[in-house]
Amino acid sequence: MVGSRPASAPDVAARKGSGTPLVMVTAYDAPSARVVDEAGVDLILVGDTLAMVVLGYDDTLHVTIDDMVHHIGAVARTKPEALVVGDLPWMSYHVSREETVCNAAALIRAGAGAVKLEGGRKRLDSVRAILDAEIPVMGHVGLTPQSIHAFGGFRVQGKTLDAAREIVDDAMALAEAGCFAVVLECVPDAVARLVTDSIPVPTIGIGAGRHCDGQVLVYHDLLGLQDWLRPKFVRRYANLQADAITAVGRFADDVRAGNFPSSDETYHAADDVAETLRLNDRTSAPETASA
Ligand code: KIV
Repeated sequence: MVGSRPASAPDVAARKGSGTPLVMVTAYDAPSARVVDEAGVDLILVGDTLAMVVLGYDDTLHVTIDDMVHHIGAVARTKPEALVVGDLPWMSYHVSREETVCNAAALIRAGAGAVKLEGGRKRLDSVRAILDAEIPVMGHVGLTPQSIHAFGGFRVQGKTLDAAREIVDDAMALAEAGCFAVVLECVPDAVARLVTDSIPVPTIGIGAGRHCDGQVLVYHDLLGLQDWLRPKFVRRYANLQADAITAVGRFADDVRAGNFPSSDETYHAADDVAETLRLNDRTSAPETASA
C-alpha cells in the first residue's frame, strides 16, 4: 500500500470494516487524473460517464472499448498513486466470453488496475471469465445507466421490497463470485445499508446514502463543470464552469479592448534589431495614393 491509500484491488477489499470510508472520483484525462490523485482519492474511476460529461452524448451507451482505452491511457500515464478502475462499456461484455476477456484485458493494458461492469446475477458469467484471467472486477448494481432503456430512464431502483431484495441478492452474488467491491447507484439508504451489512467487500455509493463503505462522485459534478444534469445526490464543491466562462469572457474583453497582450507578455527583439526591422518596414511599405 502507498501511504494509507489502497494501491491494488486486494488493498481496497481489505478496507472493509476499517472505519475509514473509501473515496472514489472519476477522471477521464491527464489533468483531471492529476487533480484527483493530488487530492488524495483512493480510487480513480475512468467511468463510461465519459460519454456524457466529456464526449457530449445524452447517455453512456455510445462509448466504445476504444474510447475507454484512449482515456484510461491518458489517466494511467500520470502514474497516479490511486487505483485506476476502468469501466467496461455497454456491449463489451455481453456477447461472448472471449470478447469479454479481451475487452477487459484491453483496459488493463491501457493502464487500469481493475475493471468495473454493470449488473448482478445476469452478469456472473462475465465476472467469472474476467476473474479467471486474473483481472480484478468491481461490480455495480442499483441504477445501472447502461440499462436505462430497460429501466425506462434514470430512476431510483430498489424502492419496493421485491426490488430491494433483488439488489441485495445481486450484490451478494457478485461478492461471492469474487468482486473486490460493489458500486451501489441510486438506491434508498436502507437498501444500501442492508447490502453493506450483507457482503464481505466494500460498497461504494453514489446516490445511496451514507451507509456505504465509500462514496463516489463524477468529477464534473463535484467541481460544477457541467449543469445540464444535476441529480439530488450531487454535492458541488466548486463552480468551475461559471469561473471558466468568466475567465474566458475577461480574455475576450481584453483582446477586444487592445489590453492583451501587454509588453510583459510579448517577446522583444534587441533594440538594434527592432530598429532595423522598423526601418525596413517603412521602406518596404507601399506608397499611399495622394488624395
Ligand atoms: O461511469 C461512471 O462514472 C460510474 C459512476 C457513476 C459510478 O459508473
